[in-house]
This record gives sequence, C-alpha cells and structure tokens, in this order.
Amino acid sequence: MNIFGDLAEIVEPNHAMAPHTWYRLGGPADYFIRPQTVEQLQDVVKRCNDNHIRIHVMGLGSNLLVSDEGVRGAVVKLEGPVFSAVQFDGAQITAWAGAELSKLVLDCVEKGLAGLEILTGIPGSIGGAVKMNAGGRFGDIGSVVDSVTLMDGQGTIFEKSRPELIFDYRCVNIRAPFILNATLTLSPGDPKQIMRTLKENWIYKKNNQPLNTRNCGCVFKNPPEASAGALIDRAGLKGLQIGGAVVSEKHANFIVANEGCTSRDVMRLIESVRKRVREHAGVELQPEIEIWK
Ligand code: EPU
Repeated sequence: MNIFGDLAEIVEPNHAMAPHTWYRLGGPADYFIRPQTVEQLQDVVKRCNDNHIRIHVMGLGSNLLVSDEGVRGAVVKLEGPVFSAVQFDGAQITAWAGAELSKLVLDCVEKGLAGLEILTGIPGSIGGAVKMNAGGRFGDIGSVVDSVTLMDGQGTIFEKSRPELIFDYRCVNIRAPFILNATLTLSPGDPKQIMRTLKENWIYKKNNQPLNTRNCGCVFKNPPEASAGALIDRAGLKGLQIGGAVVSEKHANFIVANEGCTSRDVMRLIESVRKRVREHAGVELQPEIEIWK
C-alpha cells in the first residue's frame, strides 16, 4: 500500500535534497513533503506516525548539511501561501514559519518598524530562525518574539508565550517539532535611521564573511566567552581543505563548498577542525549547523 498515494501533489518519494540546501549537497529524502494547509500537515504527520516514519522539518536549507546518502524518513518543508504568510498589525507581526527572514527584515524597515534590522544578512525561514534563535553580534531574533504557535508530533496545535518561552544563545526551549508561526513585537522608528543600521550591518557582513560562496553560515557555535572563528584562525586552519571543502580564508568559521565537493568532504573537514582546535586550544567546538546523516 502506498502510504501517501492520494497526496501525490505534495509528497515526492525519493526526492533529491541538494537543490533545497544552500550547500547544494545531500542525497535523496525517502519522502519530501510540502503540505499546503495546516490540515494537510496534520494529515501527513498522522500518517508518518501510524507508519513509524521519522519526520525531519526543514526551513530554507541555509543552515543545513544533508549526508550524501540522504535522509531516511520524511522531510517536511513548510512553504506556499499559507505557511509563508505575514500579517502586520501595527508594530505587531505574525509571521508564518516558511516566510523568508531577509524579506521580512526589509518589509519592516520600509514600514518604519525597528527591531529586526539587527538580523540583516541572515538567511533562512522564520521557523528556522526562531528554532535556533538566529542572530549575530548585533542581537538575535528572540529579543522580539512574544509567542509562537506550535504543533506537536501528534498534530495538536498550541501556543507558547513569554515568560515560558526562553531564548538563549542559538537555542530556545521549544521541543515541539513544528513551529507554525511566531508573533513579533517591533517598535516604531524612523525608516531612514533603521535603514542606516541595516546598511552598517550589511557592510560588516560583506567585509567579514565569504558571502558569494556556497556555504551554510557559521559552522560552529561560539563557545562561552570565545569566538569559534578566532579559535580556528589561531589554530592556523584557514585554507585547510578536504576534497572540495575548504575553511574560508575570509572567516574561519565558514566552510565553503567548492566544485566537486561532497557532504562527506564537509563532514570530514568539520571533524578535522574540531580535533585541531581541541589539540591547539583545549576547546571542544560544537556544530551550529544542523547535520542530517
Ligand atoms: N575572527 C578571527 N578570525 C576569523 C573570524 C573571526 O580572528 O577568521 C575574530 C574577529 O576578528 C572578531 C571575533 O573573531 O574579533 C568574532 O568574529 P565576528 O565578528 O565575525 O563574529 P562571529 O562571532 O564569528 C557571529 C555569528 C554570525 C554573525 C556574526 C555577525 C555565531 C556563531 N556567529 O559571528 O552568524 O553573522 O556574528 O553578526 O554566533 C551564523 O550564525 O551562521 C553566522 C554567520
């Protein structure tokens, strides 16, 4: 029996993951599922549960490394009009999980809403950004999130708001597999001033990060009171290469995928960098990116 036989429009079996990731790497998912409504999402979650199919939830693939062998089970991507909608109500915004963060940042600047410009240049979806409390040296998204609508593994929908919602460095206390939407509260400001901050942030990124390469942002979390990039740099690892994967010369916490690179190359380079930083500085780096293997 075909579990998703009547859902051919939203379920693609044996579907290549590489085109869905910024790295352009990774083998096929057993099932690649793009529900178009909340009810369809609940339906596929139920079918996966009934058939013991593991679910992986993805955003826009900008912080994701998928193994060359691909993903066993289902990959669910929330996209389409329902899941990428954004509603503005004065300074309060409800952004659905599949909405693109960088587009939302620009929309807010145009509307004279301050608070998201600190996230300039960070790719990815709202769902992914909330899940890992995306941010950088200027702040993170958690500072403007008031509440989230979540869906658990059984398809039950519920809300979680501050103060139960606690954001920390690149994490938040959300265990439910699906973030459906987030409500953000910004503050009214002068569009020109907000645009200036956005430009400053953008110039900082452009000067410090290998933006025009195939990468997936910073690979490792910054350890407490330290910078992963600086530790890797000080260990002399800029330019270290395994196969088609290379530690960026511009920012050592970026691993760039060159022509012919495989996921295995990136994974081996990650392990090599960890080992050498451990030996050099006695620090155990932890990946910031999501790795599906
Ligand atoms: N540094 C080096 N060598 C390098 C890279 C950095 O010595 O090769 C030094 C810098 O000179 C600086 C310090 O390390 O003194 C920190 O570097 P940077 O300002 O670039 O910030 P970061 O901590 O490495 C964080 C986020 C980035 C975000 C930037 C800017 C993490 C892991 N990274 O980088 O986020 O873009 O701040 O806001 O928190 C990402 O999450 O994917 C990401 C790229």
